[in-house]
Amino acid sequence: MKKTAVKTVGILTAGGDAPGLNAAIRGVCRSGMINYGMKFVGIRNGYRGLVEGDCFQIKTGDVAGILTRGGTILGTARDKPFKNPVPDADTGLLPIEAIKKNYKKWKMDALVVLGGNGTNTTGSLLFEEGLNVVGLPKTIDNDIVGTDITFGFHTAVDVATEAIDRIHTTAHSHSRVMVVEVMGHKAGWLGLYSAIAGGGDVCLIPEIPYDIKSVSKEILARRDAGKNFSIVVVAEGALSKAEAKMTKKEFKKARLEMPQSIGYRVAHELEEATGLESRVSVLGYLQRGGTPSPYDRVLANQFGVAAADFLAREDFGKLVAMQNNKIVGVPLSECAGKVKNIPLDDPIIQSGRSVGICFGD
Ligand code: F6P
Repeated sequence: MKKTAVKTVGILTAGGDAPGLNAAIRGVCRSGMINYGMKFVGIRNGYRGLVEGDCFQIKTGDVAGILTRGGTILGTARDKPFKNPVPDADTGLLPIEAIKKNYKKWKMDALVVLGGNGTNTTGSLLFEEGLNVVGLPKTIDNDIVGTDITFGFHTAVDVATEAIDRIHTTAHSHSRVMVVEVMGHKAGWLGLYSAIAGGGDVCLIPEIPYDIKSVSKEILARRDAGKNFSIVVVAEGALSKAEAKMTKKEFKKARLEMPQSIGYRVAHELEEATGLESRVSVLGYLQRGGTPSPYDRVLANQFGVAAADFLAREDFGKLVAMQNNKIVGVPLSECAGKVKNIPLDDPIIQSGRSVGICFGD
């Protein structure tokens, strides 16, 4: 057993769930217990549990048999304790005051937060407030700055790719244009990877605003070349060139007024422009639920084990990240409040263009 001053560690999962969360929880706890004799306090439902003091002592058995399980045994929520804070009606405490009180009450020497951009931004603010925080990068969107990869992403790519494969056969049978809407409200990693892996003909992502005329032209060209169907992969955050010119406020309003999600709009516009029958499949939460792929289990385990080492050497205020296949620590302040979009000169975009994927630009 290696020595460390860090004896008791709080652990929470926040934001949207992702496959691999339980594998990461298991990695942190098992490695922390086995190698450093640490104790872990589970915090339920993200930062809400930390504010409310909804905590429990994690026993070895709690993290047994969870490697393959989807979701999170800790529960999750999207609460942001630093956003518009109001004092609690009963205690009069602000969320940050309640957090500090519970951190002390449960004798935490440190806190591990597993989550996406929102979670790690809050983690960074808590570190500034004096808590010893270590962050882990989880999201199916793969959009966290400072890490090449997040766990959950590849499982979601697998799910979306399988869906596109299946949609291919029915598209072919019915000679239809099939729009497949995938998640990714700010970044298009999932859309791009699944479009390439699934052989999509069109890929619309937030990074490349589209012109519906270019997309229809591509689909009509495919028809004229004798192809009887087309697969259009649309990220939920895809936007038109006209929308790209809007202010953030105008865009938000326009999206609120849109009766259905973007996939439906694209399908409708394409049917009007091409006269070809179009259908939509919104993959939604299927991409987030269920068992993690072996790749994500291995990745989440690596991140979890590394987090125990970060804790043991009191390397706080860091996101455990992967850069060039190596685990590194990135200051949470460098990731906070940012989104990792696909760089427009990323060779992966070019590799899609080179095999004929139309990005609608
Ligand atoms: O986990 C990230 C994400 O999957 C986004 O792609 C999506 O927009 C969002 O979560 C939706 O999640 P929820 O409905 O839980 O807020």
